[in-house]
Amino acid sequence: MRRPAGTLLIGLAAAALGVPGASLRAQMLVTSPDGRNTVTVEIVDGRLAYSLSKDGRTLILPSRLGFRFKGAPPLEQGLRGTDVTRQSHDEWWTQPWGEVARVHDHYNELAVGVEETAPPGRRFTLRVRAFNDGIGFRYEFPEQPGLGTFEITDELTEFALADNSRAWSIPSDRPRMDRSEMLYSSGPVSLLQRVQTPLTLEFTDRKTVMVIHEADLADYARMNLKGGCIECRTLTADLAPMGDGIKVRGKAPFVTPWRTIQLADNVTQLAPSLLGLNLNPPNALASTEWIHPMKYVGIWWGMHIGTMTWSSGARHGATTANTRRYIDFAAANGFGGVLVEGWNTGWDGDWIANRNAFSFTQPYPDYDLPDLARYAKERGVRLIVHNETSGGIQNYERQLDSAFALYRLLGLDAIKTGYVTDTTAEGHSHWSQFMVRHYRKVIEEAAKHGIMVDVHEPLHDTGERRTYPNMMTREGARGQEYNAWSGDGGNTPEHETILFFTRLLAGPMDYTPGIFDIMRDRSTGRAQHPEEPRVRTTLAKQLALYVVLYSPLQMAADLPENYEGQPAFQFIRDVAVDWDTTRVLDGRIGDYVAVARRERNSRTWFIGAISDEEARTLDVPLSFLTPGRRYVAEIYADGPNANWYDNPLPVSITRRPVTSATRLRMVLAPGGGQAIRIRPAN
Ligand code: NOJ
Ligand code: CA
Repeated sequence: MRRPAGTLLIGLAAAALGVPGASLRAQMLVTSPDGRNTVTVEIVDGRLAYSLSKDGRTLILPSRLGFRFKGAPPLEQGLRGTDVTRQSHDEWWTQPWGEVARVHDHYNELAVGVEETAPPGRRFTLRVRAFNDGIGFRYEFPEQPGLGTFEITDELTEFALADNSRAWSIPSDRPRMDRSEMLYSSGPVSLLQRVQTPLTLEFTDRKTVMVIHEADLADYARMNLKGGCIECRTLTADLAPMGDGIKVRGKAPFVTPWRTIQLADNVTQLAPSLLGLNLNPPNALASTEWIHPMKYVGIWWGMHIGTMTWSSGARHGATTANTRRYIDFAAANGFGGVLVEGWNTGWDGDWIANRNAFSFTQPYPDYDLPDLARYAKERGVRLIVHNETSGGIQNYERQLDSAFALYRLLGLDAIKTGYVTDTTAEGHSHWSQFMVRHYRKVIEEAAKHGIMVDVHEPLHDTGERRTYPNMMTREGARGQEYNAWSGDGGNTPEHETILFFTRLLAGPMDYTPGIFDIMRDRSTGRAQHPEEPRVRTTLAKQLALYVVLYSPLQMAADLPENYEGQPAFQFIRDVAVDWDTTRVLDGRIGDYVAVARRERNSRTWFIGAISDEEARTLDVPLSFLTPGRRYVAEIYADGPNANWYDNPLPVSITRRPVTSATRLRMVLAPGGGQAIRIRPAN
């Protein structure tokens, strides 16, 4: 499968590579296999920089590379190139689960050896890979006399945009420092202050789209981006510090994460985004057979809307009887998991302040964990164990082994972790190297015990799932929970149409779709006041989210009783969670998107289309279907006069024959959506 990688070592005369006093300019280029994307690395006057062009047009102007250290001189000038290595790689690999089954890892690589001309004469390699869908580069420090342990205070990597592109972003410094749970806004890159990645940028001619992010963040600080200056277009790496201000502690040999720039000709080509997966090491697990995408329900929404509590007492959600009811519901509807929150001691009182009191093995007295594990298993369902840490990291790490061993003993194979806090008990930000190591440790420990992981308040996804396919899904954006209690009324109708083109490009999201009781004001049956927290979609859009917002663990988030007597619930029962193929049919960031996905090992397709607050009609050719085959489409559309605001519930369910020649006219209500299953006839 793997073609031999051609490695070419080119020795370079020092004079040609920027030794001061000799020739002051050296340029090295690498171009993607399709010849469209070119990275140029140059050393000019002892400074190292890269630039990026596509089809001959510059997208990133020469941008600085380098580091600052504590107690050592910076690595940003007095540099020269020592050698250049090139290789190419062309391989297909198969994901155990995913948005697509097969992934093409195809690139040309340039590795430039760089050395300081003055003492301590430190050396590193800048490794650049040019793919057809973007580029990645990283710094590699070999073992060397001039560099043992080090402390990075700044990474100087820049992204000097050649265009005042429109950026869709969430801030990295406010209102809370450490969360990604905000609504997106858009504006010119020149106005950006401090923002998170993935950062999606649409060029002013709308013919180029760029996504800046990182891959393989294993032992480093998370990268955010900061606007370098007023009214300029240069973004600079902004590493999250640990409690003492140091960004990264390391010891050579050491590699940084990849800095990635995904490129596409228009926004519909951004997903599925595979660049970051290709820049992560291959699967490290001996077996992946135990890993299984699934749908789940949970004792969860009740706590968010206030009808149940995590803590003990009269409204305690995680009781044995209530959990049995959820298990029965999951079994009756073919769902694989039941998430139970508030099962373990530590929730009473202020569970954020008392974070070090959480036990991850001790259930509340009204929750019979072994009995429920058995009861579930007999019905083909597994409990998903909730581990909220509130950022009490040492408290959690101390218990990891015993907790995971217990879950395994009970036959449980999935956890949902949580980190509700701004700063950990140890004084570090969520995004610091301290936490990067922690999140990684949990994934590795879980893998050892055969446990799948769903992380809330996570690190942003940098493609870990390739190496650890038990890292299933995560939150890392404003999810459905905000529609239960948010002070600003909930997620806007456009929110998910932005998420698809931004956050979801990093990887799967546990958004928790499927709220049917949209108004939540059962007494009047009328809309809540617009400022009250509520779901701001139609019901059909809630269905479409299962296809649009990819997650291998997909929740039916509402209370079981709210699905009773609802014909539309059939779509949630039917929808797949593991895909062979993904096609974006149409879309505009912040306006609408339509996605088709074919289920793994199946001929069945699903389509999800969602709109923002506008009504829209989409004309969707089904040319992705196999020509000559007859199919039946089951269509869940917004019903007559549906709209998110005061008539979100009507869904019209129809069936019709379709073929690859059919063009579907999809009518989406304001804040609406449409969900379709397309199966071969007979
Ligand atoms: C926030 C998570 O996003 C949510 O899903 C969970 O229920 C609460 N924290 C409690 O852990
Ligand atoms: Ca959250």
